[in-house]
Amino acid sequence: MLSQQQKLSYQENGFLILENFKSIADCQQLKQTANTIVENFIPENYSIFSATDRQARSDDYWITSGDKIRCFFEEEAFDDNHNLIVDKNFAVNKLGHAMHELDPIFRGFSADERLHTIATDIGMVQPHVLQSMYIFKQPRIGGEVRCHQDSTFLYTDPMSVIGFWFAIEDASIENGCLWGIPGGHKGPLTELAKRQPSGNAITIKKLADPEWDTKAMIPLEVKAGTLIMFSGKFPHMSEANRSNKTRHAYTLHVVDGNCHYPHFNWLQRQDNTVGPTFTQLNSLL
Ligand code: FE2
Repeated sequence: MLSQQQKLSYQENGFLILENFKSIADCQQLKQTANTIVENFIPENYSIFSATDRQARSDDYWITSGDKIRCFFEEEAFDDNHNLIVDKNFAVNKLGHAMHELDPIFRGFSADERLHTIATDIGMVQPHVLQSMYIFKQPRIGGEVRCHQDSTFLYTDPMSVIGFWFAIEDASIENGCLWGIPGGHKGPLTELAKRQPSGNAITIKKLADPEWDTKAMIPLEVKAGTLIMFSGKFPHMSEANRSNKTRHAYTLHVVDGNCHYPHFNWLQRQDNTVGPTFTQLNSLL
């Protein structure tokens, strides 16, 4: 699937851009499905935005979402009295974290054997699709995502996670595209998130000072249908979306089933696996 040059580029930069990877029709179908999930969701049943216990409830709702389809709202979508102040369809930050398994349209989009081949091309032995997220990056209220490495949150020993980031809509500087530091993955993992043995609290431990040259951060502006893949140590971020346009994206995080997946990771599926292989996803179609 990947040429020698693409493999070298990935190793050197920590990311690779594959244009026209998905058709516009496939992107539109996924977008429609995501919007329908939001339309059918009843935010009144969802009280995490109570100011006093937001954190605790949020953690519980979040931490058990690894094998479910759940909606996570933008903070700025609510006023101080916990009332939704924007249309529900423009209030959701993301869906997570098992659409690839539980929703037939998402499953069809995700069960793409080319992704298995790409993952093995860059050295993964046994690719498993650990999680999926549909990110809305809403107009005007879509929040910033600070610079981070995905291995901080989805750690394996040795580190193996790959992010597959699909632009479902055109992503530009204006509407909050991804930014990243080419070569930044060569430095150490700087933080590690750990779920505490009791309760749902997650602590983030500093492991090393970032060696990232933030001046080297570049915008990854891409058209709908483009796949950006990146290593678990690739430092990346996105600015808030202050434009009037959405910036929908779909991500899959794939880990190597041959690596150890520790209990301290926030995402623990009830079946105690690291998610289906691409072949298993295909057999569900
Ligand atoms: Fe990330």
